[in-house]
Amino acid sequence: MSFKHSSAMSRRAFLRWLGVGGAAVAAGSWLAACSGPAGTVVRAPDATFTPDLEFELRASAATAQILPGEATSVWSYTGRVIKGEASNLQSIPGSYLGPILRARTGQRVRVTFTNDLPEDTQETIVHWHGLVLPEDMDGHPRFAIRPKQTYVYEFEVTNRAGTYWFHPHPHGKTGRQVQMGLAGLFIVSDEEEQALALPRDDYDVPLVIQDRTFDAGNQFAYLRGGGMMSGMDHGGMMDQMMGFLGQRVLINGQPDYTLSVATRVYRLRVLNGSNARIYKLGWSTGQPLVVIGTDGGLLEKPVEKPYVMLAPGERVELWADFSGFEVGAELTLNSLAYSGAEDPGGMMGGMMGMMSGGPPLGTPLTLLRVKVERAEDEPLSLPRSLARLERLDPAQAVNASQPRPVALSLRNMIWLINGKQFEMTGVTPEETVQANTLEVWEIVNELNPGEMMDANGMAHPIHLHGVQFQVVGRRVLPALKAGWDTVSAGYVDEGWKDTVLVMPGERVKLAMRFGAHTGLFLYHCHNLEHEDQGMMRNYRIAG
Ligand code: C2O
Ligand code: CU
Ligand code: CU
Repeated sequence: MSFKHSSAMSRRAFLRWLGVGGAAVAAGSWLAACSGPAGTVVRAPDATFTPDLEFELRASAATAQILPGEATSVWSYTGRVIKGEASNLQSIPGSYLGPILRARTGQRVRVTFTNDLPEDTQETIVHWHGLVLPEDMDGHPRFAIRPKQTYVYEFEVTNRAGTYWFHPHPHGKTGRQVQMGLAGLFIVSDEEEQALALPRDDYDVPLVIQDRTFDAGNQFAYLRGGGMMSGMDHGGMMDQMMGFLGQRVLINGQPDYTLSVATRVYRLRVLNGSNARIYKLGWSTGQPLVVIGTDGGLLEKPVEKPYVMLAPGERVELWADFSGFEVGAELTLNSLAYSGAEDPGGMMGGMMGMMSGGPPLGTPLTLLRVKVERAEDEPLSLPRSLARLERLDPAQAVNASQPRPVALSLRNMIWLINGKQFEMTGVTPEETVQANTLEVWEIVNELNPGEMMDANGMAHPIHLHGVQFQVVGRRVLPALKAGWDTVSAGYVDEGWKDTVLVMPGERVKLAMRFGAHTGLFLYHCHNLEHEDQGMMRNYRIAG
């Protein structure tokens, strides 16, 4: 592909894209009309709610020493415990990442959240990714608050033990806010999990994988172009269409991350907190990964995978046994090569490298280094069974013979769900489900004939709010099987999920039981640039 050819193509595409941009602006003004003056408490505490745990949480500007030299300006969640133990909130030292909040199933939690972001235009709201909550506790963009406003969350944790997380969810601005540093883990434990002999405390290690591009002054460069054609800001436009891919990997907010371990077992809780990058996790030793948990908590029993796919929003828990290593040994956790996540025949692969400056999807990367530094006796052995896991039976679904279709497509460079873009409160009859019912949904990643930019589409991590689901089937178009074959052994479909990777040409069938909370909930692509551009819809749980 010649430079001239691609430049002409993207100019035309850019103009088309500008035309659609107007809709997003209109959606933004809805919010300004509704959220009231600065300084107000948009949702006040409920006097009848008695919390077991109470936190204060704030989103504000800060600086972080990430690279040598200039500190990086970041936006960060900071928190403190108002009621509870100090151990319910754990800060990650030296990181822009928010604190780890810890709760037990059944606890009632109050979080007083204040938006202290430094730009007037940065309304925000906190979404508790993976938790099943009432609609006004879920962080829907229609509840976004402006700077200096406060929103009080009050909810009971009903999810099982697992690695959940929180991040901003204002419409059109999530990508930038997450990129600037707003994200944190919400770890739930329960009695069943506590009764298991799993690694605890220092041996229970959160690993948040993100990618960033730094400019010459060590600042985050987001949607700023930065490639060969940055003068025309094509880079920003392409990043928005394909998703931002950073030049370097950060773990827990730090570059060149090294995990010092003893010769024993660790529980690694891995979150892909990246905007758009999909990782194919693999050990440098070639050993399989032992998976004990997914998005919605522990599996029934451990499973071995040659590698594990982890798309934005997904979590995986690993049993990492270093007892067979000598002190002094080193290994790495890598992202291995894969293909097919973006159209290899289209222009995108080549453009991506030039545009965002980050390596294209599927490029091998070193994520972190493990150094075995001390000998320790290993007291634990891998449990044969981990947790009770209810298996949903798709044959019992109210729509068993007619799965609800969720079609992913691209039209004029805009990603759509069932042909539509996000509307703040818009929801169709086809997007309405009944509380307390079991349904099957089928996500179909369609081809896009006629789309010059990406006729085969790209991989999308699809996330549902308000429910945890199980993957009950996958198939792929024969024409796109070659790429799929480089990732499919890394799907962990054995447990509860809230986010699922759907490759080009793939159909994924999900089973889910909606709970009692009624109202509007989101389903969307967790590629944050896709989400911000409107690859998101409401669904209604009707009572
Ligand atoms: Cu993690 Cu709707 O998001
Ligand atoms: Cu979510
Ligand atoms: Cu997407």
